Amino acid sequence: LALLALWAVLGYLLGSIPFGMVLAKAMNLGNLREIGSGNIGATNVLRTGSKGAAAATLLLDGGKGAVAVLLARAVTGEDAAQLAGLLAFLGHCYPVWLGFKGGKGVATFLGLMLALAWPVGVACCLTWLAAAALKRISSFAAIAAAASSTLWMNLLGHGQAVVLGAILTLLIFWRHRENIARLKAGTEPKIGQK
Ligand code: G3P
Repeated sequence: LALLALWAVLGYLLGSIPFGMVLAKAMNLGNLREIGSGNIGATNVLRTGSKGAAAATLLLDGGKGAVAVLLARAVTGEDAAQLAGLLAFLGHCYPVWLGFKGGKGVATFLGLMLALAWPVGVACCLTWLAAAALKRISSFAAIAAAASSTLWMNLLGHGQAVVLGAILTLLIFWRHRENIARLKAGTEPKIGQK
């Protein structure tokens, strides 16, 4: 139990590193809070005009989720891996360093899924891409990818992760509540639009 608590803390700390914020500051791209949606994720970093910074944010925010899962699995095991992934996601969404006002967790979700059950991760990434190709809206793609995750888990033989998938899906919907309101109103910007 002490080991699980340790992975929860380590996962949270890893997830709480706000890479988008750090990169935007380091590259003088402005204050993400005053740009676009005000979010710290790759979609909003792209609104600064820097594709490189957006790609790096996506990879690093995804990477921290993957690293949390892989480290916990290698050292402790499967339960620890799930817990570390969940806490990395929560760390991204509610980082202590930013007064618990973090991101929406999409990149971290995809990264941790790829590490936890790669076929499910790949299926979620493809769902994101297909939905993005359809609408060109990042939040729409995120919601579609999250909502499909438990279905992919069941279809691809990873039912052991279905509770985690359901929790992550609910949290992603919750974190996108403003986006969902804009989607309903027809005012959500397309990818790359300010
Ligand atoms: O990953 C977050 C994305 O789904 C929406 O980002 O900045 O448009 O709220 P944003």
